[in-house]
Amino acid sequence: MEGEVKIQGSKNSILPILAACIICKDECIIHNCPNISDVHITKKILEYLGCKTEFENNVFVVNSKNISKNDIPDNLMRKMRSSIIFMGALVSSLGSACLSLPGGCELGPRPIDIHIDSFRQMGLKINERHGKLKCDCGSGLIGCNIAFSFPSVGATENLILASVLAKGTTILTNAAKEPEIIDLIHFLNKCGADIKYSHNGTIIIEGVERLHGTEYTVIPDRIAAITYMAAVASTSGSVVIKNIVEDNISSVIPIFEEAGCIINPIDKCSLKIDAPARLYCNRLIRTMPYPGFPTDAQAPIMAMTTTADGTSVFVENIFSNRYKHVGELLRLGADIKVEDKVAIVEGVKRLSGAKVNAMDLRGAAALIVAGLSAEGTTEISGLEYLDRGYEKIEETLCKVGAYVKRVE
Ligand code: UD1
Repeated sequence: MEGEVKIQGSKNSILPILAACIICKDECIIHNCPNISDVHITKKILEYLGCKTEFENNVFVVNSKNISKNDIPDNLMRKMRSSIIFMGALVSSLGSACLSLPGGCELGPRPIDIHIDSFRQMGLKINERHGKLKCDCGSGLIGCNIAFSFPSVGATENLILASVLAKGTTILTNAAKEPEIIDLIHFLNKCGADIKYSHNGTIIIEGVERLHGTEYTVIPDRIAAITYMAAVASTSGSVVIKNIVEDNISSVIPIFEEAGCIINPIDKCSLKIDAPARLYCNRLIRTMPYPGFPTDAQAPIMAMTTTADGTSVFVENIFSNRYKHVGELLRLGADIKVEDKVAIVEGVKRLSGAKVNAMDLRGAAALIVAGLSAEGTTEISGLEYLDRGYEKIEETLCKVGAYVKRVE
């Protein structure tokens, strides 16, 4: 592969930012919005709630002046995990919410106990019955100190959304520090919120009277960047990756370097990756909350190591069922053993194309990475998972010399 790849806007930033728009009760214009199915589901939720929306050329416009409903239908809630983010946003916007439990990729049990416990500390009354959550904040939420037992990304976002208009000060400790959290904070501050954060995981939110609309550009998608880099690495390619924030992928750069790739920053927002004829193995990759190695990058990077020289070891610390791609990689000729949290990849000389089935979003990306380096044709089904998070991945890969075709 050779040429340039421009990275799309971040999926995990845009989803909470679009939910946050309903607190503004005004018009928000969001640039660099990726054209992915999760954004289209969010658009449907916003329209159901009474917002006006437009989405064209990666610009999303939301007008939430006439938001009228406080519930989200079960069929929309089930379509993606991040629909739970509407809980904090609705409570801030309307003082109440009625949601069913969220869906999304099956990565093991994904409870929302941290969200619920923290909301309750702010005075939110939550009634859980028949799979529905009925929430009411009475005369308003009250700022308080919340120490998370784990830095959950979704719970941190939900509590930020719930506390922007709360009475007084909310202090979140052991909060998630992912770049997408910081992006949400920057967006809300641009809308008039008063949120400060520090790199030790403390976020201080002073409740304000109201938010107003704004224009904002979301950050590039770091996981898409890592996925394309893994594709380049496993095909001995030489590609410029544009529209990145290098700091946001700094925990993954050493993984590519250990594998023998040469990474050269070009400017503030692009780098060049040159891969060797055969990659070296990666000794140990452990997924951790940010700034550690991201769990979302585990599958595409594992696909890259399947043909590396030597043994690579992965430890998945964030989700309990995030090795579903392994069975499919085995069909392509990979040699991987999994025990509990640990996966051991013995690099093979070559993968060979086969029919495989994606079972989650990043697993789908892993199958593309593996299929690109495999001898012969790989046929991947389950593209609905891929489309949740990657904008026109086949077009992007074809532009740098891959042969990827979508068939009905
Ligand atoms: C977000 C990301 C997802 C990423 C994950 C971890 C979005 C839309 N999704 O998901 O791509 O893989 O962060 O970086 O931004 N947990 C609990 N109780 C809770 C909440 C979480 O036990 O109340 C557990 C989860 O089951 C999981 C771990 O904490 O094992 C991490 O979850 P969390 O950080 O909340 O991830 P999500 O927000 O779901």
